[in-house]
Amino acid sequence: MKILVIVAHPDLASSRINKAWMRELQRHGRVTVHDLYQAYPSGNIDAAHEQSLLEQHDRIVFQFPLYWYSTPPLLKEWFDTVLQAGFAYGPGGDKLQGKEIGAAVSTYGTAASYSPAGANRFTIDELLRPLEALARYINADYLPPFSLHDVSNVTESQLEQSQTNYLRYVDAPHIYAN
Ligand SMILES: Cc1cc2nc3c(=O)[nH]c(=O)nc-3n(C[C@H](O)[C@H](O)[C@H](O)COP(=O)(O)O)c2cc1C
Repeated sequence: MKILVIVAHPDLASSRINKAWMRELQRHGRVTVHDLYQAYPSGNIDAAHEQSLLEQHDRIVFQFPLYWYSTPPLLKEWFDTVLQAGFAYGPGGDKLQGKEIGAAVSTYGTAASYSPAGANRFTIDELLRPLEALARYINADYLPPFSLHDVSNVTESQLEQSQTNYLRYVDAPHIYAN
């Protein structure tokens, strides 16, 4: 099982959570970590290169901070640019069929706020439905997501635990999703 983690954070230098997650994966070494904003600072995504990366891996995890209940803009651009007809869908577009797609998301909002009775009304599973729909459309298997909430109150030891859990998630997402 070859695992690709696509990190989409517009300002990793100022990041605490996503940077820590990414470093943990890099320490681990067996996962390909692809930092989108570093690879494409001007936003010009090389679709052929991205497609080739996807073809070389079996499980793809999109890692990002939740921005306005969605992905940071370069990841949306990545979907639009990379998931082309004839590659991801349509005639001959079977290249991602059977691959696994997961998500790792950090949020400022608390876990309780991401519930029907909470301030954000919707659960993270619900807010990630577009990614789930995308996975279904390209005949990939959608994995349950990994998340960390209330990031401004996460202690150092909680962050370390989250790093450990994240590493477990990318290896065994069905067991370590939360
Ligand atoms: C433009 C922008 C939009 C954001 N939108 C949300 C949001 O919709 N829900 C939320 O819980 N947090 C939101 N946040 C907070 C980020 O998700 C939070 O800062 C991030 O997950 C922290 O991760 P980091 O330490 O890796 O930067 C937003 C932050 C920014 C800058």
